[in-house]
Amino acid sequence: MRLFFALWPDEDLRRKLAGTGRVCGDACRGRTLPSRNLHLTLAFLGEVHSHRVDALRRIGATLSAPSFELVLDRVGHFPRARIVYAGASTVPPALRALVAQIAAALAVGGFRVEAREFVPHVTLVRDARAAPPTATLDPPLVWQVRHIRLVESVRTPDGQMYRPVSRFILTD
Ligand code: 2AM
Repeated sequence: MRLFFALWPDEDLRRKLAGTGRVCGDACRGRTLPSRNLHLTLAFLGEVHSHRVDALRRIGATLSAPSFELVLDRVGHFPRARIVYAGASTVPPALRALVAQIAAALAVGGFRVEAREFVPHVTLVRDARAAPPTATLDPPLVWQVRHIRLVESVRTPDGQMYRPVSRFILTD
């Protein structure tokens, strides 16, 4: 199974992000992601044997982190990956701490963790052939982050599909 931990936007936020995605997809001549696929990855595990999913559930359940607010106020571009994304000019310390906590717990659990720097982003457009027309997400989208998810990424004939495996509540 291909698994990752992520922040998952609620319906309202997803709709708003998808609207920005459509504008960017046209302007950047790329492939706009459907609103159901929008998320922010915290830790990408890659292929994990199904018998290890319970260990990941336990890791998720033992996380101890507060809920926080994330303001998505920029439109970013990873030219090499040809990704256009919604990002944040200020990364809340609680988000950095949460990512560090997950990475540490995964390492202790014997899971391989990626060493690349964490740049929080919600991918809106793939295969972008041009830069986004603006770097500002206006109005900013305020995300009250109250839970995280363990998600399976499934390839289907209709494209990528994400299946929620578990949900973990952040404490207030
Ligand atoms: P992306 O949106 O920047 O491509 C599921 O594939 C999620 O995991 C995506 O959000 C993807 O980020 C993220 N991810 C992080 N590292 C990855 C990797 N090495 N390969 C594939 N996806 C990765």
